[in-house]
Amino acid sequence: MSRLVIVSNRVPTPVEGGVRAGGLTVALADALGPGTLWFGWSGRRTARAGTASAVAQVEAQGITYATIDLSETEYRLFYAGYSNGVLWPLLHFRLGLVRYRAEEYQAWQAVNHRFADALAPLLRPDDLIWVHDYHLVPLGEALRARGVTARIGFFLHTPFVPPEVLRALPRAEQLLASLCAYDVVGFHTAGFRAGFLRGVTEILGLVPEADGRILFGGRRVAAIVDPIGIDAGGFAATAEQAWGGTEVRRLRSSLAGRTLAIGVDRLDYSKGLVQRLDAFGRLLARHPEHRRRVSFLQVAARSREDVSDYRDLRNELDRIVGETIGQYSEFDWVPLRYMTRPLRRRTLAGFYRVAHMAVVTPLRDGMNLVAKEYVAAQDPADPGVLILSCFAGAAEDLTDALIVNPFDADEIAEAMHSALSMRLEERQARHQRLAARVWHNDAQRFSRVFLDHLRGSVAAEGK
Ligand code: G6P
Repeated sequence: MSRLVIVSNRVPTPVEGGVRAGGLTVALADALGPGTLWFGWSGRRTARAGTASAVAQVEAQGITYATIDLSETEYRLFYAGYSNGVLWPLLHFRLGLVRYRAEEYQAWQAVNHRFADALAPLLRPDDLIWVHDYHLVPLGEALRARGVTARIGFFLHTPFVPPEVLRALPRAEQLLASLCAYDVVGFHTAGFRAGFLRGVTEILGLVPEADGRILFGGRRVAAIVDPIGIDAGGFAATAEQAWGGTEVRRLRSSLAGRTLAIGVDRLDYSKGLVQRLDAFGRLLARHPEHRRRVSFLQVAARSREDVSDYRDLRNELDRIVGETIGQYSEFDWVPLRYMTRPLRRRTLAGFYRVAHMAVVTPLRDGMNLVAKEYVAAQDPADPGVLILSCFAGAAEDLTDALIVNPFDADEIAEAMHSALSMRLEERQARHQRLAARVWHNDAQRFSRVFLDHLRGSVAAEGK
């Protein structure tokens, strides 16, 4: 059997007795057998530029983690600069936040070539190489340039934009051409894939074949839809176990019988946090019956603080949170609890089970696994209600959530009111249908579908 090689900018850190779980580790758990190689950035920044040969390798549970450091300059230009100051806002439809600098683009290319220099010697011809996310778009073609003949796939965890938006990116055609150097390119939704195929047609002037494959530079690339999922059964069990744990007990006693609403995100402008908090204020203003009866816990874990737009957002949120608390608090009730520290997955699982509603309202999101985790964590006999943005990839599947336009604070406020007033039978019926989708499109399916395509053992999808 071929060896699986995972490449991602962030590599999960092995800790004593295993690997820190979360994100990709959970999504790929089923594919990560003994012998797998996981390659990427160590998370360390060094004063001087590293060399291609400086690869650190550690093994945990049969998986080899091979990492390289980034220099401070590479971190600034490749990670904070081009990846998160250009590609991230562009792919989330935020052209006004794109700050293109040629120097950063060059560093992005150069770091991808350094990744390729370090990775190529570790590869075998029959490896299956699976590259993840926007930081590493050029890696496939950089590996090909070093004579790597193994099959290489790429998965984009963010949305993909239609050509009208993509054209704003200097060298958009190069980005598309780099994606076409892979054997398989995966997207979360049919809409993202359609945007890519339109870009290939309108910007590169190529005509996809009837099965959706694109012939480019003598190779065929298949563009597929493969929504990421969670280990639904595992997460449900974690939530149940966490119910009796100290943190859930502390949370419940602090609620003193009140209803909990929850939001959990990275502190990122794509998550619609400003509109969400505004909506909560409007709920309290318009439906005063919820005052003193509901507490909203918003966890917004600090993220990418080296990018100025993230710092600005944090300041703005501090202000809105202060205003909401000041305006509506009573001496024995605070409407909003706001934390910028991350919580452990296990703790969150328990909190989701406590919460009567979850508000997941990104302005754009590739998938959003919080939505799926919230569904999995519910008690089917007394489930909570999911409010979900129509612009999250998850909305394609989770149509039984209360779907809202995340730009419309009034609509979100009314959805909150409906969620807080919803009868048990309707909550149960919605939850049953949502859970069926979460259990169906799970993590196992995600990696199996992608790897089957990468092995070339399934036909490509039609246009
Ligand atoms: C998103 C991206 C991931 C990224 C994660 C955390 O989910 O798709 O590639 O790793 O955010 O962001 P960070 O910049 O901290 O890696």
